Amino acid sequence: MQLQEILYNQGFGTRRVCAGLVQQGWVAVEGDSMSDPATEVAVVEGLQFTVQGTTWEYHEKAYLLLYKPAGTECSQKPSTYPSIYTLLPSPLRLRPNKGAVQGVQAIGRLDQDTTGLLLLTDDGQFIHRMGSPKHHVPKVYDVTTKHPIDASQVDRLLVGVVLDDDPRPVRAAACEATGELQLRLTLTEGKYHQVKRMLAAVGNRVEALHRSRIGGLTLPDDLAPGQWRWLSAEQVDALRTAR
Ligand code: URA
Repeated sequence: MQLQEILYNQGFGTRRVCAGLVQQGWVAVEGDSMSDPATEVAVVEGLQFTVQGTTWEYHEKAYLLLYKPAGTECSQKPSTYPSIYTLLPSPLRLRPNKGAVQGVQAIGRLDQDTTGLLLLTDDGQFIHRMGSPKHHVPKVYDVTTKHPIDASQVDRLLVGVVLDDDPRPVRAAACEATGELQLRLTLTEGKYHQVKRMLAAVGNRVEALHRSRIGGLTLPDDLAPGQWRWLSAEQVDALRTAR
């Protein structure tokens, strides 16, 4: 693939801008400085290239995880708080996507005050699969409650509670008190404000909410709130088949 095409696919701007970046000597591939935008490069996943001093990896499709900090909205057009998309470098937001929205999109949403693991991708099929009710990917939430948790609340969350918009009960796939005011809850569906509404239904209240796991994927220990990381091909495959 021509170098200018690689840069274009990866979100570095229009084809003209990308050609200009190479002509001005701002692009290197695997450490070699380039000057001709039409240079043919054998693309492989993870190919390293440098644009204006920043090193990038080539990914045909982008799959990443973000440690969502509190006080951010998962919307492209936030109403009150900054958008999570401002935490991502612009090429991830500008990657062209045939016929669809530009750039990576969050898979599902977390409330502005919720922290933790959020997946993003520009693969529409993957978003569809992960969001499908048939594909019950377990998601683990660590909840801090306002009132002490008692055993009957844990039981009711496991048996199922009725939320106001649907007569069918929703239940936690797993639920255990991990402290007087701490609960670990696993859900396999994703209704609006589901954890908060489930806790309210059993007479308690969420004070803080953190998503620590999706399928077999956890937040890396060395990732700080606001930071993101590419997912490996193995991690993406594991999520595709998680249930
Ligand atoms: N449930 C909630 O109530 N809020 C979230 O952000 C995620 C799950």
